[in-house]
Amino acid sequence: MSGGIRLSGWLTADSDFGELRLRRAQSSRRAEVGRYGRIRSVAWNRDNRRETGVTKEQRLVSTISGREYPFERIEEFAENGESLEVRVCGIETAKVRAGVHLWERFADWMPFDRTDAAISLGEGDTPLIPAGGRLQAVTGIKNLLLKNETQNPTWSFKDRGSLMCVLLARELGEDTVATISTGNMGHSIAAYAANAGLRAVVFVPPYTPQEKLMAMAMHGARVIRVAAPDYTQMKNTVLELAGRLKLRIVSGNGPIRVEGYKLIAFEMFEQMGRQVPDFIAIPTSACGHIRGIFKGYRELQKAGLIDRLPRMIVVQARNCSPVVTAIKQGFDHVVPFTDFDTVAEAITSGNPPGGDEILDKARRCDWPAEDVSEEEILQGQRDLARAGFFVEPSAATSLPAVRRLVDAGRLSPDATVVLMLTGAGLKDLDALKHQPCCGVIDTDVESVEADVAKLLNR
Ligand SMILES: Cc1ncc(COP(=O)(O)O)c(C=O)c1O
Repeated sequence: MSGGIRLSGWLTADSDFGELRLRRAQSSRRAEVGRYGRIRSVAWNRDNRRETGVTKEQRLVSTISGREYPFERIEEFAENGESLEVRVCGIETAKVRAGVHLWERFADWMPFDRTDAAISLGEGDTPLIPAGGRLQAVTGIKNLLLKNETQNPTWSFKDRGSLMCVLLARELGEDTVATISTGNMGHSIAAYAANAGLRAVVFVPPYTPQEKLMAMAMHGARVIRVAAPDYTQMKNTVLELAGRLKLRIVSGNGPIRVEGYKLIAFEMFEQMGRQVPDFIAIPTSACGHIRGIFKGYRELQKAGLIDRLPRMIVVQARNCSPVVTAIKQGFDHVVPFTDFDTVAEAITSGNPPGGDEILDKARRCDWPAEDVSEEEILQGQRDLARAGFFVEPSAATSLPAVRRLVDAGRLSPDATVVLMLTGAGLKDLDALKHQPCCGVIDTDVESVEADVAKLLNR
């Protein structure tokens, strides 16, 4: 499918960063903004007369109190800190359509009328496969499935979200996409921005792995490494300067990014022959991924395509577990973590904005939550690697978390459980210094035969 999303033209958005007036030069389309943020995008001919009208009605809704905002607000969070989500109207009558791309088949659920295939890097279509005996034994779950998001173009689940962010930036006529990232989102935004001809600016903490930094730089992103006592402080500093410099920052939990993650639910719905798993275990940090997948299933249910929802399993590293700790304690607000250290560097949002939504959903939908120790994460990474899946430490957290929940009697061995493998192992080779295994035998031409004979007991 080609052609831009039909949101182009003139938009005015109120922003924490002051009024952001966005005008797309030379546009042949104008957005007309109606009540409740309805965006009517209209094609105009040379005589400035309306040719066709296309509308898609949608709003931004705060995820706990349900307050409505116009869609063209284009913000990441409500002023009370709640995360915002897109409510696309008419989903009750949405239909799966014919199409090559997932976003074509599920176009009725997407916020934009069209997705530009030229912006895509071929994200998605990732395997959903049975985990096999070894990992079944590790977890105690018979129907264990792996959704291998490491097979995306930048080797993490971030790409479907970046597709949506870059689409929006381009349609708003922006020349820069900026983000704050521990690595994976920066890498993904850098790649998608490069393909779309936009500039990427990525703010990273000092502990971002070299592999991710180099990938961003290779895609041409401007990478700004900011020393700070912790990631939250670094984020706050960057958000403040972004406000002054009128730079729109896309976060890991923004409403448009979440619309991209919804596609994972649609893809699994197709892959499982319209069945729904009982549980989906998700390493969680900014909370965008978990809520995107759940939103996808909720919207399938709204359209009458499924009659029950999967339960999410919220997983975090124990050393940085603001969401899991709060769920376990029954709190309404996340418990901020500062001054921590974990090998799972990709899931280190110590005080995730909008994280309270996950506590609310966990309470209402009875989601299990589990945190895992550093030793368990490293063991999980080894277990997955020995089963053929080389993931980064953050992505390995869900394996031991599921084992813990089975041992605690919170998960039945008969449940169908999907583990989201969120990022590839080659993205953080430095983490392997914590692994005792090596497997490399150094030898030379004189000794190699003896060494191999010894290895094979011959
Ligand atoms: C490998 C990996 N797993 C999980 C997550 C957590 O996803 P989210 O921040 O959307 O909660 C991240 C976030 O960057 C990640 O990079």
